[in-house]
Amino acid sequence: MTNKIAIITGASRGLGRSMALHLAKRGVGVIGTYRSGAAEAETLRQEIEALGGKSAMIALDVSASAGFPAFAETVADTLRTQFGRERFDYLVNNAGHGLHALLTDTTEAQFDSIIDTHLRGPIFLTQKLLPLIEDGGRILNVSSGFVRVTMAGYGLYAAAKAAIQTMTKFMAVELGARQIRVNTISPGAIETDFGGGVVRDDEHVNAFVAQTIALGRVGQADDIGGAVAAILSDEMGWANGATFDVSGGQAV
Ligand SMILES: NC(=O)c1ccc[n+]([C@@H]2O[C@H](COP(=O)([O-])OP(=O)(O)OC[C@H]3O[C@@H](n4cnc5c(N)ncnc54)[C@H](OP(=O)(O)O)[C@@H]3O)[C@@H](O)[C@H]2O)c1
Repeated sequence: MTNKIAIITGASRGLGRSMALHLAKRGVGVIGTYRSGAAEAETLRQEIEALGGKSAMIALDVSASAGFPAFAETVADTLRTQFGRERFDYLVNNAGHGLHALLTDTTEAQFDSIIDTHLRGPIFLTQKLLPLIEDGGRILNVSSGFVRVTMAGYGLYAAAKAAIQTMTKFMAVELGARQIRVNTISPGAIETDFGGGVVRDDEHVNAFVAQTIALGRVGQADDIGGAVAAILSDEMGWANGATFDVSGGQAV
């Protein structure tokens, strides 16, 4: 994987942060994005540099597509000035937030926020960045176990994640001519700040979820960071249009 460069959206915390560190340990340069966590992103950048890796952090709101052209210009400039490259290799569409609201109560503002972040964002960000992705590169979209496992209150979020999972297959078909592989990772429940940190911080929720997982515990960010690095490795080059369920065997 050496000399490759990955862009990871939402790298300042949680799963994206772990993905960045796992990729950096394999010699991959990391351009991470953050929305509000500039200080966390800077800490991550320093950690990667301390590992001997190369990293840059750029602000991005994935729910605001009007900012994507300027972001793409910043990426092109960062590649040239900090990495000595014209293009990058891996795009991980990770950034996002949850929503707990019954479909019967969901507001149109909540709908817009979820769809803008989890569907409009990944599609149009990918579109804008495609000229900067090397032929033979990879795109990995982050979905969710909620596409498979139902729980009241997560319907809209799950529907958006199902849509990106389906989009992945069509992107794979459309980008095959450029040898760009497009896959989805579908994490089960992981202890992060996601959803207000409920899986991590509420011991009853944690225990309830753990007993639905074959391995008997909820996931940690590193369970996904490591999986992402593995999925992006050269050995996984024949995987395309696939969804990787990485959940410890949740409700299988
Ligand atoms: N944790 C789980 O159980 C779980 C399971 C399945 C799937 N997922 C998915 O995995 C992804 C990462 O979740 P996580 O658990 O790492 O959550 P997290 O710990 O809350 O971190 C979310 C990250 O996304 C960024 N972000 C949120 N909204 C954004 C926006 N509109 N624009 C740009 N960046 C934004 C945050 O940036 P700032 O902090 O800088 O604002 C942060 O870096 C999400 O797509 C989530 O749906 C999570």
